[in-house]
Amino acid sequence: MKIVKSIAEWKAIRANLKGSLGFVPTMGALHEGHLTLIKRAKNENELVAVSIFVNPTQFNDPKDLKNYPRPMEEDQKKLESLGVDYLFSPEFSELYPDNYRYMITEKEFSLDLCGASRPGHFDGVLSVVMKLFNVIDPDKAYFGEKDYQQLELIKGMVEAFFMRVKVIACSTIRESDGLAMSSRNLLLTPEGRKLAPRFHQELSSSLSVSEVKANLEKAGFRIDYIEEKRGRRFGAVFLDNVRLIDNVAR
Ligand code: PAJ
Repeated sequence: MKIVKSIAEWKAIRANLKGSLGFVPTMGALHEGHLTLIKRAKNENELVAVSIFVNPTQFNDPKDLKNYPRPMEEDQKKLESLGVDYLFSPEFSELYPDNYRYMITEKEFSLDLCGASRPGHFDGVLSVVMKLFNVIDPDKAYFGEKDYQQLELIKGMVEAFFMRVKVIACSTIRESDGLAMSSRNLLLTPEGRKLAPRFHQELSSSLSVSEVKANLEKAGFRIDYIEEKRGRRFGAVFLDNVRLIDNVAR
């Protein structure tokens, strides 16, 4: 696996690549959710590039950014063992030569759900994904339904700006107890980890939104939102000050 940190170096490589290029953007701390996206990209393309970049502009809470896990060596091993061709892991100054003077903003759905409690979050996500698409120039890019709002907003951006990449949606990968896999699960206490699967159980139950909220609160979760829209039920909760999100089709 070739590790690339500079945009100029990548562009020189990209110019000589033959065959379809699949791309999986990540913030690292790779788990089976990420690895499933990467395996699918391997199956559907001749070459695969993965990026690891903990994108500061999408963190509204500096503590969350500081605590975000960064196990770079383990991540590299996982990517090597899957046969990933390229790892792109730039520094902030490389991806943000403008120091975030320019940004991509969506004015409706990005303000709802996670966007309501994390001001500027989706500006940061859309801006970095636009930059990564422009640099990597993939044929297909893979995103998880676990971050459903993110997936929808990225699809919308690609359409709005006539971008050539094809966005591929992949289902949410869960632990055997139903908890959606997430890099943030590593930050839960052992007790929190035991309680966490209750979130998905309640979210996917036939109970009403207000019953689900009441049950989760009683169990010890702090609710950010539980809402139904677009034929899905979306939720965000805090456990041990760790924010967990999930969504299910209704
Ligand atoms: P990150 O949270 O690292 O997730 C990278 C990709 O993996 C996203 O498309 C996410 O939806 C997917 N993913 C994470 N957990 C998953 C699970 N349990 N099942 C299926 N897919 C899962 O999302 C981001 O990074 C960032 O916002 C990024 C798009 C890289 C921009 O910075």
